[in-house]
Amino acid sequence: MATVLGIETSCDETAAAVVTDRNICSSVVASQIEIHRPYGGVVPEVASRQHVESMEGVIESALDQAGTTIASIDAIAVTCTPGLSGSLLVGLMAAKTLALLHHKPLIGIHHLEGHLFSGILSQPDLEPPCLCLLVSGGHTSLVHVPTWGSYRTMGQTLDDAVGEAFDKVARLLDLGYPGGPAIDKLAQAGDPTRFKLPEGKVPGAYDTSFSGLKTAVSRLVQSYKDAGDPVPKADIAASFQATVTQVLTRKTLACATALGLTQVVLTGGVSANRELRQRLVTAGASQGIQVVVPPMHLCTDNAAMIAAAGVFHWQQGDRSPLTITVKSRLPLEQISSLYEARDAAMAIPT
Ligand code: KG4
Ligand code: ZN
Repeated sequence: MATVLGIETSCDETAAAVVTDRNICSSVVASQIEIHRPYGGVVPEVASRQHVESMEGVIESALDQAGTTIASIDAIAVTCTPGLSGSLLVGLMAAKTLALLHHKPLIGIHHLEGHLFSGILSQPDLEPPCLCLLVSGGHTSLVHVPTWGSYRTMGQTLDDAVGEAFDKVARLLDLGYPGGPAIDKLAQAGDPTRFKLPEGKVPGAYDTSFSGLKTAVSRLVQSYKDAGDPVPKADIAASFQATVTQVLTRKTLACATALGLTQVVLTGGVSANRELRQRLVTAGASQGIQVVVPPMHLCTDNAAMIAAAGVFHWQQGDRSPLTITVKSRLPLEQISSLYEARDAAMAIPT
């Protein structure tokens, strides 16, 4: 049995959690969404300052709610890549301080690997091989997981992340921030077939591109404004959402089929989108592919998924040096660079 404290500060959520094996003992998330709302997006400097304010209390709450103390945990897992450098640094410094003070192993975690582990927290018997569609405000990736710890990015966005596209289109339609939930809601009242929008041309079969789609929506909105006509917001939202969810569903299932996989995990904040869930689950079922969608609190950024990845690495014997630094980017294929060579024992000062 392994109990790990997870810490996550890669973007705008300050989070800490305690996980024992595949069970969540506590998961605390301090969201900054209201702080960034007036700016229409995450302001990196504001985010880092807010992490500093919240970090200590969030860690204390996570330990309290789990009914444990730092002395009783086996290791500290912390997101150290990818993300906003200033934000990542706050979490990493907190984790290093605790590791040093309490003589605990430090395990650096790749944020996207954390998202992959959200599947096992909702379905503990979930085992690879599987394909994961990770859709959030910062990422759009299709990741092949043949076994835990070995990952292959099969496709990713060449420009905007899908959540970013939702947010930008929502801004064009004056729907506020974050835009995804607003588009999701408005699209229900719209005609998804009214406008034929471009899916985005990409060389890779499983890559995506959403910037052309966003530009097409921008031109469409402008054409109504120039003509002095009311913008048909619901129909545009529905057409945009239908285009995005069709592309993601088609590419995900094509990739799963090409790899001979029968399990797909959908995660990231955009998995809240009702049409995406419905399309993927229904189309998947018709092709014999089971689509696992963890509950939303596990799909959006949280530290339980980081702790769950930490449990895996702790059991593998992976340890990060206390000299580890944050990286704004790191391919998932290179996560072994976060850990000391297996034969070099973790040097914890005593
Ligand atoms: O994973 P997440 O909470 O944060 C990070 O990006 O790290 O994802 C947030 C993104 C935002 O872009 C938001 O607009 C989008 O998820 N989102 C949605 C929905 N709910 C949130 N997009 C489409 N439909 C939704 N219902
Ligand atoms: Zn995330």
